[in-house]
Amino acid sequence: MTSEQMTTDSGTDVASDRVDGLVNRLTLEEKIDLVHGDVDPDGIATGYVPPNERLDIPSLSLIDGPLGVRAGDGTPATGFPASIALAAAWDPELARDMGETMAAEARALDQDVLLAPGFNIVRVPQCGRLFEYYSEDPHLNSRIAVGSVEGIQAGDVAACAKHYVANNQETARMEMNANVGDRALRELYLRAFEAVVEEADVASIMAAYNHVNGTHATENRRLLTDILKDEFGFDGFVVSDWWATTDGPAAARAGLDLDMPGATLPEMAPETNVLYRTIDTLSTFEWLSPDDATELVTSIVGLESSECRVHRSEKFDDDLLQAVEDGRVDESVLDEKVRRILGQMDRFGLLEGEQPDGEIDVPAHHERSRHIAQRGTVLLQNEDDVLPLSTEDLDSMALVGPHADEPKVGGGGSSEVDPSSKIGPLDGIKYRVDGDVDVSFERGGPPVQGGDDRDVTVWNLSAETVADSVFGDDDDPADVSVAPAVEAAEDADVAVVVVQDAATEDFDRPLSLPNNQDELVSAVAEVAEETVVVLRTAGPVEMPWADEVEAIVEAWYPGQEDGRVVASILFGDAEPSGRLPVTFGERPGDYSVNTRRQHPGIDFEAEYSEGVFVGYRHFDNADIEPLFPFGHGLSYTDFEYTDVSVESGDGPTATVQVTVENVGDRDGYEVVQAYLGQDDPSVERPPKELAAFESVELAAGEETTITLSIEERDFAYYDEDGAAWTVDDGEYTVSVGRSSRNIVATETITVE
Ligand code: GLC
Repeated sequence: MTSEQMTTDSGTDVASDRVDGLVNRLTLEEKIDLVHGDVDPDGIATGYVPPNERLDIPSLSLIDGPLGVRAGDGTPATGFPASIALAAAWDPELARDMGETMAAEARALDQDVLLAPGFNIVRVPQCGRLFEYYSEDPHLNSRIAVGSVEGIQAGDVAACAKHYVANNQETARMEMNANVGDRALRELYLRAFEAVVEEADVASIMAAYNHVNGTHATENRRLLTDILKDEFGFDGFVVSDWWATTDGPAAARAGLDLDMPGATLPEMAPETNVLYRTIDTLSTFEWLSPDDATELVTSIVGLESSECRVHRSEKFDDDLLQAVEDGRVDESVLDEKVRRILGQMDRFGLLEGEQPDGEIDVPAHHERSRHIAQRGTVLLQNEDDVLPLSTEDLDSMALVGPHADEPKVGGGGSSEVDPSSKIGPLDGIKYRVDGDVDVSFERGGPPVQGGDDRDVTVWNLSAETVADSVFGDDDDPADVSVAPAVEAAEDADVAVVVVQDAATEDFDRPLSLPNNQDELVSAVAEVAEETVVVLRTAGPVEMPWADEVEAIVEAWYPGQEDGRVVASILFGDAEPSGRLPVTFGERPGDYSVNTRRQHPGIDFEAEYSEGVFVGYRHFDNADIEPLFPFGHGLSYTDFEYTDVSVESGDGPTATVQVTVENVGDRDGYEVVQAYLGQDDPSVERPPKELAAFESVELAAGEETTITLSIEERDFAYYDEDGAAWTVDDGEYTVSVGRSSRNIVATETITVE
């Protein structure tokens, strides 16, 4: 039998002879060397397991993820839009496409595992990594996550789903304990992980930084072994988040398979890491204890001292070796880890060195990035059909915004990609109007903290950033006033204001726009004939000026093609086909997570007391009018729904049919959404929950009939007492609509 025959479809069972053979021949020390990382000699990988030359086992390279490929040596890669923008397209096929494209870029760098997708539920809109995640809704989350994993793995690269689990905030992410009940865990937080295991056979899963119900995510036997491996049937490997592991033997017994990165940050990036050298120097000369030195230096640069756990690196190295030698961890436990890692290497042809070549940073990939960003752009408001703009009707435009001349490629942290070409709105618009419209540009305010340079995080601690934090940044431009922007807006036919936040890993974000951007929008709107606001935000922000402006476009973080994307949407060359994957509340208190006990938590305890009432589940339940509801997004054309029918199937299932017609005079995309709610539930349940959706492209005048399936799981809730998914008999209402608050038809069905 050839190795190819051995490793096809039926997967690890067939492959296990070969993998078992290797496991049997490895010495204890060699096995230990396969379950932790080390420094990549090429400086490209984010995580690297060295080869075993004696047995011809190649190295394993893992790379970030998830907005593109982040090469440690700065090799340029395509900068894709934020994950939340992808999710906003409500199109699993698009996620597949993005996954496959990123996989090709990973292969071009000889990388084997892409550390993507990330899909923690958007529990709090303040989450600093919101832009790296998908949605507040577990169904949408699961569909996009499955598409993404399938795409990456169809591209012959192993996917790594992260961060398992309940890593829903950045504040004190390493100390935080998420106290979350089983029902919310099952119905919200675990759903997409379950889906990528069962439907997409994901190769690896990353254990998170936080604790869950009192036990660290890397040491949580119930989550890693009982639920993930035994119940869901996950047969890949669990890798720790970087420096997350705190107790090697405990994590080994609980079900962690691979400890990353196995090296300290200064070892991995010696030239940039002034922070660690300073801590090191202070403690080596015994001026301060290591802890005090860490505390002092991190407080100066504005980091949580917990981020400096990065000096611990030996968890699955000496610690685990010792534990196996003295019997605290059985060697069979170690064998199982090696088997899981080698099993996936075998599955992806890595043991044979079979990975096909890839391509990175090529025009075709840039075009995909642009298309995805366009598909994910959400037209939130469009009074008097101000958009799309037309060069024929306009003589002049005032472009305003502190960074309207710069691209917003992504957010800060481990997902930062370095594209070779990028374009901001100013250039994008200028190219588009090609001299036909007079475009002026005024910032109207000071730079948003970090701007495109981002905040200080462990990922970009150059000597300069640290020095700037300590001594102040002399280059800081003086405050920029709104006056010139207002003047420009007064003179122009239309004002376009580009506003943004500066979300980054390691920190949660406020919901109000930074600096004077709210004032800027109001000041411009007061004088401008027409005002269009383009938001480049990680997620929801407050918009106290929403009633003062005509149009609002949510472009998220559009990636390297930013300027071309924004221009194409404003001038109608592309349809703003996105729908909100998260609810935009009017004010922070409107969201269900709005006390300190819930977020960020008190004494490192975050209480998930809202249960399953997250996002629109809460807005519906508490009857709070959102600023813009979940599922909302306008179009440049109009759609009409007719002939909605709902039929009960076998058991608790249903089929929805609806005819959708594009009755406008432009082509467009519509996202048909079906929600399900139990009429008189025996336990408290959300009034309705997304059960199925489909995104369709319809030419002007075209109509189509959509069929949506509602499955048994959609009818079920997780019964904590019986520890089982349960469907109650009774009446259920199916609501078909264009958003969670724009329902065009409802029908009641009975489950018996
Ligand atoms: C992190 C992240 C994770 C990333 C890893 C490696 O801090 O939480 O998403 O893949 O480190 O960069």
